[in-house]
Amino acid sequence: MTSSEIRRQFLDFFRSKGHLIVPSAPLVAKNDPTLMFNNSGMAQFKDFFLGNGTPPAPRVADTQKCLRVSGKHNDLEDVGFDTYHHTMFEMLGNWSFGDYFKKEALEWSWELLTGVYKLPKDRIYVSVFKGDEADGVPFDQEAWDIWKGIIGSEDRIILGNKKDNFWEMGATGPCGPCSEIHIDLRSPEEVAKQSGKELVNADHPQVVEIWNNVFMQFNRKADGSLEGLPARHVDTGMGFERLCMAIQGKQSNYDTDVFSGTINLIEQLSGRTYTGQMEKSDVAMRVIADHIRAVSFAIADGLVPSNAKAGYVIRRILRRAIRYGYSYLGFMEPFMTKLVPLLANQFADVFPELKAQQEFVATVIREEEIAFLRTLGTGLTRLDQIIGQLTGEGKTEIPGETVFELNDTFGFPADLTALIAREQHLQIDEEGFKAALAQQKARSRKDAASSAGDWVELQDIDKVEFVGYDETEAYAQIVKYRRVQNKQGTQVQIVLDRTPFYAESGGQIGDTGTLELFESNVPKATLTVLDTRKENDLSIHLVADRPDLDELLQSTDLVFAKIDTHRRELTEDNHSATHLLHSALREVLGTHVAQKGSYVGPDALRFDFSHFGKMTDEEISRVETIVNEKIRQNIPLDEKRNVPIEQARAMGATALFGEKYGDFVRVITFDPNYSVELCGGTHVPATGQIGLFKLTSEGSVSTGVRRIEAKTSEGALALLNEQETTLNALKDILKAPKDVVKAVQSLIDERNALQKKLETLENEKVQQLKEQLLAKVEAVNGHSVVIERVNVPSADALKQLAYDLKAKVDNLALVLGADINGKPQLAVMLPDSLISGRGLNAGQVVKDLAKNIKGGGGGQPFFATAGGSDASGLDAALAQGRELLG
Ligand code: ALA
Repeated sequence: MTSSEIRRQFLDFFRSKGHLIVPSAPLVAKNDPTLMFNNSGMAQFKDFFLGNGTPPAPRVADTQKCLRVSGKHNDLEDVGFDTYHHTMFEMLGNWSFGDYFKKEALEWSWELLTGVYKLPKDRIYVSVFKGDEADGVPFDQEAWDIWKGIIGSEDRIILGNKKDNFWEMGATGPCGPCSEIHIDLRSPEEVAKQSGKELVNADHPQVVEIWNNVFMQFNRKADGSLEGLPARHVDTGMGFERLCMAIQGKQSNYDTDVFSGTINLIEQLSGRTYTGQMEKSDVAMRVIADHIRAVSFAIADGLVPSNAKAGYVIRRILRRAIRYGYSYLGFMEPFMTKLVPLLANQFADVFPELKAQQEFVATVIREEEIAFLRTLGTGLTRLDQIIGQLTGEGKTEIPGETVFELNDTFGFPADLTALIAREQHLQIDEEGFKAALAQQKARSRKDAASSAGDWVELQDIDKVEFVGYDETEAYAQIVKYRRVQNKQGTQVQIVLDRTPFYAESGGQIGDTGTLELFESNVPKATLTVLDTRKENDLSIHLVADRPDLDELLQSTDLVFAKIDTHRRELTEDNHSATHLLHSALREVLGTHVAQKGSYVGPDALRFDFSHFGKMTDEEISRVETIVNEKIRQNIPLDEKRNVPIEQARAMGATALFGEKYGDFVRVITFDPNYSVELCGGTHVPATGQIGLFKLTSEGSVSTGVRRIEAKTSEGALALLNEQETTLNALKDILKAPKDVVKAVQSLIDERNALQKKLETLENEKVQQLKEQLLAKVEAVNGHSVVIERVNVPSADALKQLAYDLKAKVDNLALVLGADINGKPQLAVMLPDSLISGRGLNAGQVVKDLAKNIKGGGGGQPFFATAGGSDASGLDAALAQGRELLG
């Protein structure tokens, strides 16, 4: 059975059991501060378990792209060294939202595995939660009994502890006891020697967990305690790649058809053979085959490698693969990029987003590879120097600090340093390196530290209404609030049952404004809303903490919420302008332009988009012209809410890759033939309100991604006013009311001409000085000595004078001193006879002499210069020079 068939059969099976099949959410988690990447199938449904929002159906199934490279679930460093861990993997899952529970879930999993996939029953083991006193969760007798009924005996049931049988998404959030299904894939001979039951949860590569059935019953709160959820749910996850290994009878995930195409291609590109063992080259091939998937799909879902947050995680994964290829497979040129087309084709049916952006993804990866391979080259050179120096000093170990610096500054990994060091018979100080790394981690943890207290619930309301598309103020109730600690100190987050405040999302910043609190119609206090953010589906109003806040919020029975309308209007000007800009860019540059990020605030807009190469001045000016034309046409806003997604697509609406859209979407149109976008933001009623669009910069953000910054309406006008003020000031200074450009040009021309004249005069002066000095040469012990204080305009002129004299006088021993605008300078020139004969060195001599002028300097053995701060010591310096040479 091919992997595609295995996936299809899973979905067909759960469809036949009344499940709605939904698409995978993007790899990158949105609006969830507790999660960077989707790390499990349930992450996109988290809100439904918590009782916020309504699921699309009570029974749902899908295959979800998951990435376990950060936070609670992080497998990155294991990948490559075994046969079954991955960074990105597919998780097949079925869910019940308050519908069926343990019995159906476990029975169906058994039916699918043994009836449809025909996995041997006598090779399957299941585990059940044995309970945990500290959490107050008892042994899962119910699951035990159900399994006993299904299997017909207790022999294959195992009791598991909290680590294996209590599933939690992260430090907080929905969780519950679970029941895992494990499979023993060893040969019959091995099975005869040792029972598979003993190898469950023992990290055996052929006795592995394939499916986890979680019975969601609790929410883990910030203080570590558990609270019951409003309903009981089922959350299951089956590792697709492992399932394929089991069904296809393979020893390793990498031997299944999920990975074999990629591994074959890596073999061809490197000219090496994959043996499936633990050789360095095998590990490298597994690392590459795994990481290329994570990186390609993350980029297709809208991430670009960068130095911060999720972008940095992707960069690190890509670099890990590149250096394995570099160190163990001899790849000195970009190679990861060549694997992208194969992946795009392989997953075209199930995850078409990669095929749709294949060229972009391949180019971003190639550019990253070029840059990192160059870094590796620089690191190698630096490492060579370090090794040379240490060997010269008779040392045998590279200090941990140095290994860390190579790693941190050059991205040069410790194991590569160790490998190269070993070739040169050196060790690395592993402990010292780890200590330096731990220190850095502690530093960054401290920087990122923020924590949230538990919610104080005031109303039992789970649906929050946003009225801000139509209203700028509204009466509301407080649903809940909590305190959060972050860099700003303690702030308070407030959730209202209805709000006109737009919560930051889709690039548009959150509204600010006020919350007026009433008790029995008496106003009691007005809180300033500093920002509005989104957390999953909740809008959170951020206010400053105050001592009487608890009392105040708890006695409030009505809130008058009012946004800062002027700030919102300015933001809308920028948001609508962003849409006009997006279409203009596609018109001028081509339809490959896809939005990669944006910032829309009251002050300015920023728009990131995929495009290779700098925009020409002409392209920039055309884009600006088109946007301003659309503004002057005063195109009315056409806003449609709750449009079925298929209909929106048929309207030609631009959707963003990596965004999760529901079945119903909002469509923002400014002229159906010009700009139609799926968008949740707020907009101007007609484009004329934008007034003016002024592009302020165009540049590169990262490989293949350009950034435009611009201002509109008041911001654009302020910019023009500022420029006009500068221009008027210039006109005044230049006394050129008409043509400032001409006036500045003639100033520059004049200055250049004067500079030339000055140089000629200085030259002449130096020539005269030279003639005077030539007349003063004294013969001392076979060399020609000149020791003089001179008057020259610059340090360069002093140097020139010394060289000119050397060209005229054989065996010149010279010390010149000059006071150049209060700064004393010395120059020393020595003949070979004094250098080799008396062992003198101009560098050393000038250093000694410079002490008189409170300065220092250096140079070569035959010529050196020094500068100082005390011109009154010049004569003493010259006298000392005379003593030495005269
Ligand atoms: N959420 C569960 C897991 O990831 C199914 O294992």
